[in-house]
Amino acid sequence: MSKETVKGNTAGLRKGILEELQSLYEMKTGRDCYLPADLAEKMALLTCAINREISVILTASGEVTRVSVGTLSDAPVETEHIRRASAAHLRCVHTHPGGNPHLSEADLSLPDWTELESVCAVGVSEDGGVTGVCAAFLPDMEEECVPLSMIPQEKWMRKLLAVRREETVTEEDTRERALLVGTDSLESLEELKALAETAGALTVDMMLQKGGQADSNTWIGSGKVQEVRMAAQVGKADLVIFDDELSGKQLRNLEDMIGVRVIDRTALILDIFAGRAVTNEGKLQVMAAQLHYRANRLIGTGTELSRLGGGIGTRGPGETKLEMDRRRIRDEITAISRKLETLSRERDLRRQTRIRNAVPAVALVGYTNTGKSTLLNRIAGADVYTENQLFATLDSVSRKVETEQGEQFILTDTVGFINKLPHDLVEAFRSTLEEAALADILIIVSDASDPHMEAHRKTVGQVLGELGADWQPRIEVLNKCDLPRACTASDFNAIRISAKRGDGIGELMDAISRCLREREGTYTASIPYSDYAQIGVLEEYGRILKRENGNDGVSVTFRATEKNAGLLTRKYRISVRPVRKEV
Ligand code: GTP
Repeated sequence: MSKETVKGNTAGLRKGILEELQSLYEMKTGRDCYLPADLAEKMALLTCAINREISVILTASGEVTRVSVGTLSDAPVETEHIRRASAAHLRCVHTHPGGNPHLSEADLSLPDWTELESVCAVGVSEDGGVTGVCAAFLPDMEEECVPLSMIPQEKWMRKLLAVRREETVTEEDTRERALLVGTDSLESLEELKALAETAGALTVDMMLQKGGQADSNTWIGSGKVQEVRMAAQVGKADLVIFDDELSGKQLRNLEDMIGVRVIDRTALILDIFAGRAVTNEGKLQVMAAQLHYRANRLIGTGTELSRLGGGIGTRGPGETKLEMDRRRIRDEITAISRKLETLSRERDLRRQTRIRNAVPAVALVGYTNTGKSTLLNRIAGADVYTENQLFATLDSVSRKVETEQGEQFILTDTVGFINKLPHDLVEAFRSTLEEAALADILIIVSDASDPHMEAHRKTVGQVLGELGADWQPRIEVLNKCDLPRACTASDFNAIRISAKRGDGIGELMDAISRCLREREGTYTASIPYSDYAQIGVLEEYGRILKRENGNDGVSVTFRATEKNAGLLTRKYRISVRPVRKEV
């Protein structure tokens, strides 16, 4: 196996130190030795010199196969390729600069997200000495601690080699192995990884290939396609997922050249949605979106065929089948659209009833996984499915809530936003998102512990703008503030809460109460044709919903705050009547 370079947080390290770290790759342990004293001592001295953790991964045959600097999260342990290149039974030995040799909770959970069989910590004193060595082995991960000179080398090696991971391996074998290819940014690729995992795939590798659209037949240039093909072979991928939306032709060409199934981000998201929709309406919407997606790709091919002008080889069974497929899909879409229309009418009726009952609507909106369902459960005591996966909620869920001051409102959870939301899905989920567009108040939920929080908040703002949901009062909420990595500052005014623990909920409820009192109401006014200029005044102080021309003038329905409605009456002498009784 070729030697690797030193991984992790090596920023600012002197050349001499880097060389010393690199030389750790040359150290061997032998088959009977779990951790030779000279390796532990060298790691301790280097740790003392740089005051950072150092970790190495050792194979069963005693080779150092990976050296990294910093906490394990600085240099994530990806054991996949090591495992395939060596005979499993991997151990990670790492140092603890504070002197404490005991394995932390994070250390003990390492085998859960890597494929290590054993984890070992070496405590390092201030002068670079070894304070003790602790190791734990699967399956029970109970730690054993000893002084450096007393490591039971053979016993620990026996324990290591006795670990059987069949269960895990079987489980992993059943997952689809996905290679991810992005042309945009690492952040987008990481989101794709989270999506792939939500869909149940195992990500074997990620590649950022700048320069998409280089080739209309394959999206990326042919040299890059070859790189992807190689990476798919090395990673034994069953599936390659592109982070962009590809045409039917591009997908087929890529599949032919790479040799495994190729899908794009949209198909992946549709797949997740298909697995998660709960209500009838949600399921139908996903089905419609999937059919649109498929039809678009079929139609792409059809157009190309007809552009060739027919002729031998372009007609016949292929085209007939395409035509049949297309017609079948069109019929299915029509049938689904009809059912959706009926459901949508029912939804409208419910909404109308709500308007007549004058119960205002408050919508929870935000990026996926920010904790909207948890917050709905916290406020309304509903039992909504929450999980640390993207898009746990696909259908809107509404609950009636009453504040301490006695105001009632309907609180609605909405589908989580995501970057590059496929167009088909914006359409398909319009009715869910409409809840946001029509709500009287929006609660924008952001995840304070997410390093990309600001960017995600921006996406939410953009999508809301596209949906025309940019007029209502907004309450900004920073959730997950109980987490240690939650950010402390933000350049927007937000209520800091923990939906999980209940912190800050009182403050949030007060803010909702305040907004409810100050929010817009629906009014009508009759403007005589002779005073037509007053329409301009209404436009200035409110939002016009409807105009109806009558015999003597225009009947205008509009929304305005109570304050502005009063102003229109007092200052402009417009006779304004509320349409619905305010709560
Ligand atoms: P989508 O349905 O995908 O839009 O997700 P969501 O925004 O409804 O998020 P959900 O409520 O499903 O929560 C996502 C994950 O975050 C779950 O694992 C929750 O337990 C967790 N979570 C939610 N709120 C908090 C919080 O205040 N603190 C912490 N630590 N975790 C939270």
